[in-house]
Amino acid sequence: MSVTGYNIACGMDQTPVADRFPRAPVKFVNVHCHCLPHLDDGPESMEEAVALCRSLTEDAVSTVVATPHQLGGFEDRVRGEAIRRTTQLLNDELAQRGIDLVVLPGAEVRVDERIDRLLAQDEILTLADAGRHVLLELPWDALIDIEPLLAQLSLRGVQAILAHPERNIPLLRHPQFLQRWLACGIGLQITTRSLLGDWGRQVKSAAWELVTQGRRVCVATDAHDDSQSLGMTTAFKAIVARLGSDRAHLLCVENPGRVIRGEELAPVLARGRQVVS
Ligand SMILES: [Fe+2]
Repeated sequence: MSVTGYNIACGMDQTPVADRFPRAPVKFVNVHCHCLPHLDDGPESMEEAVALCRSLTEDAVSTVVATPHQLGGFEDRVRGEAIRRTTQLLNDELAQRGIDLVVLPGAEVRVDERIDRLLAQDEILTLADAGRHVLLELPWDALIDIEPLLAQLSLRGVQAILAHPERNIPLLRHPQFLQRWLACGIGLQITTRSLLGDWGRQVKSAAWELVTQGRRVCVATDAHDDSQSLGMTTAFKAIVARLGSDRAHLLCVENPGRVIRGEELAPVLARGRQVVS
């Protein structure tokens, strides 16, 4: 019996030492979450928003970026100032209730040719309002080439992060698009529940291939309510088991931390099969 409690068979375990004794406790930064009340398809009340935030703290999340939808179906309904104001209201409510979670303003922005102009007008929010990353959402039913948009954003010093590419079936069918966007420096946000198989085998397989390859990636919940497991802790443990604790920290702690500090995402070194290169 192991005195560490990790069940390591003496002389047989080939796992690197750092992976056998993972750093703990881990606190996560969740950069994609629909936690603001009354704005989009997230919580319909402050009570529901607080319940979601409480679930985040129970999932070891210390900081969350609120990312209500902007543009697309939420055109004119979710304005930048409303996001900032509602974020402050939620933080005040959490403080009053003693819930230890920091909420930062942000958005999940539907791909649109006006994004560059609306960023300049301060209508579109960057993640954590840090001015460095914009979280882009593709339509579910069509594939749009965003390479011109990526070039525009790059001139502005903004890096795009593509929300849950593993769940976009048109993109999975035409991986050459993602290959070109990656060459332009796009970052990827992979969703915890995709890694855990909640969206089916095809999405799970794509999610694992994307977190395995050598690109700029972070993991987040994309939670809209507290009705299901948010999966940050479970996904982190699954990544530790499959790819090692260094990779898990990079995806779930380091790169999300870089997002809220307005720093460039760090690349992971290639390991395993490349799906889009
Ligand atoms: Fe989302």
